[in-house]
Amino acid sequence: MTDSNTPAAISIQVDRATAVPISDQIHASLRRAIVDGRLAPGQRLPSGRDLAAQLGVARGTIRVVYDRLIAENLVFGAGSAGTRVSAQLPAGRADDESPLDGPLAAFTRPYSKAPLPFQMGVPAHDAFPAKLWARMRMRAVRADAVAFTAYADPRGEPELRAQIASHLAVSRQMQCHPDQIIVTSGYRQGLMLALTALRVHGRKVWIEEPGYPLGRRALELTGAVIEPVLVDAEGLRVEDGIASAPDALLALVSPGQHAPLGVTLSPARRRALLEWAVATGAWIIEDDYLGELQLDGRAAPALAAGEGAERVIHIGAFSKTMSPALGLGFVVAPRSVAERLVEVAAALAPAPNRTTQLAVTEFLEDGHFLRHLRQMKALYAERRSRALTHINAFLPGTLTAGLGLIAPLPLSADDSAIVSIARGRGLAPSALSAWYLCRSHAQRGLLLSVTNLRTDNIDAVCETLAEIVAAQ
Ligand SMILES: Cc1ncc(COP(=O)(O)O)c(C=O)c1O
Repeated sequence: MTDSNTPAAISIQVDRATAVPISDQIHASLRRAIVDGRLAPGQRLPSGRDLAAQLGVARGTIRVVYDRLIAENLVFGAGSAGTRVSAQLPAGRADDESPLDGPLAAFTRPYSKAPLPFQMGVPAHDAFPAKLWARMRMRAVRADAVAFTAYADPRGEPELRAQIASHLAVSRQMQCHPDQIIVTSGYRQGLMLALTALRVHGRKVWIEEPGYPLGRRALELTGAVIEPVLVDAEGLRVEDGIASAPDALLALVSPGQHAPLGVTLSPARRRALLEWAVATGAWIIEDDYLGELQLDGRAAPALAAGEGAERVIHIGAFSKTMSPALGLGFVVAPRSVAERLVEVAAALAPAPNRTTQLAVTEFLEDGHFLRHLRQMKALYAERRSRALTHINAFLPGTLTAGLGLIAPLPLSADDSAIVSIARGRGLAPSALSAWYLCRSHAQRGLLLSVTNLRTDNIDAVCETLAEIVAAQ
């Protein structure tokens, strides 16, 4: 929206339909107005209370924005004279030197920093076997240094692909040949290989509603026509997808544990999805990001493990099981499309860094990976149950979901504002509404990963979150 009482020079756009946090949007508008000179040095910004009321956001959100501008020396607090634009903009603040990180703001943050409490998509920082891992990496670096100076296999090292094939047979009940496997830098590269090989441009694709924002964005960037299909307590409503887009080229799904609701696709829906794909020649891309980390009961076998598997491109990653900083994942392609994916990998995106691959091969081969998974499952289950007790005390109705919790909020609540304020206080919950494509479907709530809630921080971080929620 553009509001009328702020100085005419500032046009503040607040788009509640995007995944970009509202505070980032307001910050970007103000920052641009200052850098462009539309807000002159010394000019007073509207009071936090006024601006919040005009934009329909929480006062805390504006406070976070003003604090950020103060930290950047673009404005200063002048006591009773309000918040004013700095007389001299800091050096290096010329427009052509401004950070070009806009697209990153919407996603997993903060990048390249220690994970924050409640931050989704990151394993336990304190429980990673760092010393063991360092030794394995050293050995891999040495082995690689004396190896041939030649191009590596773009599909990934044969030893690693063989280890992954054996691991998937045990943990995901999949029968695949190592040549069906392509090693990638993570889920996202796997998705890119699949979308490029299947030529999705201009074709309809089912996505889960709600669903992983980066998956949705990947489809937008590759020119697919997105068909959101609602997810309920049984997972994807396959019958809705068939009714609205029976001729879709593919469905992008997280059937094992839906992201972010955590539900497993029911056996009936699973059958219906596979039958639709077989009958129409559609593809299913299975995002198995939490395949090995099912905390309740036994994980259902992968979609790529049984009847209909010839229509399923399975994508896994070591991002949740080891670390996203590792940058390692894999695609398992059905035989009929494996060579198309291999060609894309060879031409556009070959498997990453060989030393990482060699180290992970040893980690798998020597049984460390399975042990680590077992330990992490026990640790996360314990952290999740402790957190559930804490959070339910101030957000009743909170449920477990994957490696975290979902705390539902009323539709009138602004979950993005709570997230912005929490970020300012060192916590990183996520807003459920940002995972929806359509505003009319969007539920409000907080997504709270428990992986980094330790005995020594859980009480304090839950208390801080309770204060923030109460103030809203
Ligand atoms: C739904 C979902 N899929 C996959 C991934 C893993 O992505 P990557 O391996 O590219 O880090 C994540 C990470 O947060 C995720 O949330």
